[in-house]
Amino acid sequence: VKRLLLDCDPGLDDALAILLAHGDPDLELVAVTTVGGNVVLENTTRNALELREYLGFPDVPVASGAAGPLVRETKNAAEVHGVGGIGDVILPKAALPLDARGAVELIVETLRDAPGEIHLVATGPMTNIALALRAEPRVAEWAASFTIMGGSFTRGNTTPAAEFNIYADPEAAAEVFAADWQVVMVGLDLTLQALVTDTVKGRMLALGPLGRDLVVPLATFWNDPQDPDWGGQAVHDVCAVAYLARPDLFTSVPARVEVETAGEWTAGMTVTDFRSSIPNALVPVRLDVPGFWDYVLGVYARVAAS
Ligand code: BDR
Ligand code: CA
Repeated sequence: VKRLLLDCDPGLDDALAILLAHGDPDLELVAVTTVGGNVVLENTTRNALELREYLGFPDVPVASGAAGPLVRETKNAAEVHGVGGIGDVILPKAALPLDARGAVELIVETLRDAPGEIHLVATGPMTNIALALRAEPRVAEWAASFTIMGGSFTRGNTTPAAEFNIYADPEAAAEVFAADWQVVMVGLDLTLQALVTDTVKGRMLALGPLGRDLVVPLATFWNDPQDPDWGGQAVHDVCAVAYLARPDLFTSVPARVEVETAGEWTAGMTVTDFRSSIPNALVPVRLDVPGFWDYVLGVYARVAAS
């Protein structure tokens, strides 16, 4: 069983990633930390708290972190995720409190208390992770692995060059890639293979109430009216958690990734050199799509049946 701490900004696909981390018996979700990103911190945190009780993992601490990026102005993606962050899903209000610690403290303490055992997964802007590394550089050493959803090597989604999580806080991402660990960069080139097609949506609906009330609304809220080849919403963040559990579903290549922080047109671009002799990242490039959906929907079916 792999134990993980998920730093996230729920977020439609973050919520689906939480569901996967919670439901997979080969994973143990030990903490959730939130960051401002898709929507304001207040809402990403509320969503994490409500999901904890709705899905039923009351003993897992939830802590809230940075409201905005290290140096730039706050950007969000409310047009994709809805102002509340999880589309039109309305969950019962949470009764349990936030952890008394902030996200940075919770990250540092959780990793320090079990060095080499906790896998860190980040599916929002990298602000909390950068602050944790500033507070305690040994976080990079203590993490059993570090996987992000973020970046890309061919294209962006927020600008032509940059993916949202990196664009939202390029300085934080640059610090995170410069730290003394290998970053598994699950970027857009990979996640855009994980699309909720009509067939996948049908399988989600077959999950019963969990499918109808949570999974399908989260997985189909957004569609891009400007995309003539629209093939379904991508479940970006789910891919990062899936990578941790099932790396065999991914074909991955080492690379050196540098984050552009100075570019006029390219801020937040993850410049990826697959020919570098000093790689700092592992980049999943190809997904076994049928295997991925069998895995994810299999886990969701277990949760639906429980
Ligand atoms: C990433 O940005 C957010 O909108 C999603 O939750 C995902 O983490 C995709 O670019
Ligand atoms: Ca996210």
